[in-house]
Amino acid sequence: MKKNIVILGTQWGDEGKGKIVDYISSDASYVVRYQGGHNAGHTLVVNEKKIILHLIPSGLLHQNTIGIIANGVVVSPAELIKEIKMLEKNNIFINKRVFISDASPLILQYHIEMDIAREKKLGINALGTTGRGIGPAYEDKIARRALRIGDLKNEKNLSTRLEKIVHYYNHQLVNFYQHKPIDYKIILRDLLPTIDVIHDMIQDTTNILHKAIKDKKKIVFEGAQGSFLDIDHGTYPYVTSSNSTVGGVITGTGVGPKDLDYILGITKAYSTRVGYGPFPTEVFDDKDRHFSNKGHEFGSTTGRKRRTGWLDAVSLCRAVKINSLSSLCITKLDVLDGLDEIKICVAYKNIDTLEIISFPDINEWEKIVPIYKSYPGWTKKTLGAKKMEDLPYEAHHYINSIEEITQTPVDIISTGPERSDIILIKDVFEC
Ligand code: IMP
Repeated sequence: MKKNIVILGTQWGDEGKGKIVDYISSDASYVVRYQGGHNAGHTLVVNEKKIILHLIPSGLLHQNTIGIIANGVVVSPAELIKEIKMLEKNNIFINKRVFISDASPLILQYHIEMDIAREKKLGINALGTTGRGIGPAYEDKIARRALRIGDLKNEKNLSTRLEKIVHYYNHQLVNFYQHKPIDYKIILRDLLPTIDVIHDMIQDTTNILHKAIKDKKKIVFEGAQGSFLDIDHGTYPYVTSSNSTVGGVITGTGVGPKDLDYILGITKAYSTRVGYGPFPTEVFDDKDRHFSNKGHEFGSTTGRKRRTGWLDAVSLCRAVKINSLSSLCITKLDVLDGLDEIKICVAYKNIDTLEIISFPDINEWEKIVPIYKSYPGWTKKTLGAKKMEDLPYEAHHYINSIEEITQTPVDIISTGPERSDIILIKDVFEC
């Protein structure tokens, strides 16, 4: 019996993790966010109502689940309160159901201003960040100057440190980015009322999780972004600023690797990417229109149109290795319904040397072209399928081919946006 399950993205984010976390955590005691911040956007459709969560763990829609925002997450108190209010409006109450690590770094207004000012200055070389202040907040953590959630408990100290940090940021904002200065008193004024709301949620979340493990409770670790947005393993510098691969669970929660029982890699049946950076299998024209319109491929955080492409099995094989994946969950299979032909990229070729390369280094991405294998499409609808027997032969063949190429079993298939649009090949807690 598996107790602790990691759910993470194997592509560039937006693989549909939120729905799978929500589905699997109906049976879990804890759902844990371990990295990223409110740059994530996890869309859930419950009884035809769409709910988008950016910071609060997706499993919270189940009444008996406790949400943990662990130390690896960068937390915007303003966003947190906004999300709590949105949930309350939808009759979901989180009182005594969400705990935040005292060691989580804060995202405050100066991080956001800095993120936006930098992107503006980079012009055509911009990364296409979400503009949520994620990079600057992680920089503060690594530079050992971050204000953390636990600091909210000491108001006097908070004010002194805030003044110093804002002074540091203003120097760059004003002199380098020609931005107007920030007034730390305004940040403090806005921050103080949030402390009352957050105060009782602040905990040593590592301790909570260790106790849960001892008590044999089921825990779901909910990844944000995807493996190729990882700061170390992604398509650097077009990445986010956290470890979205499996190592992020360990450093981001204080739960050790021996306690992770099963690692599920969420993979969209095709590929998407928001923001700039390498995307070998990107398509344009009618195929892009098909994926975009049928898959509603617009960012749930920024509303930006996502770039779309075929499934990239070269990077997927890499994701299997760097995350020690136990199995895959294929999402949005239904978006492929109606295509005559479906392609999978099975190798990368260098256009100068014509050599097949295993995984490009930073300077090689621009020189590679994908080599595709073609698969027959299907006309029968897979939308809403609940059993493997409901799928046409060609869809079986597509799924089996992914298993063969990646040497990894597919345990779950998602066939539509609703909670119930799912084929559970294996029960992840049981297998
Ligand atoms: P940041 O995380 O806002 O710094 O953005 C860095 C890169 O990661 C940009 O290309 C973003 O579009 C991308 N990104 C960040 N969060 C997500 C996500 O949740 N889904 C998809 N892309 C993301």
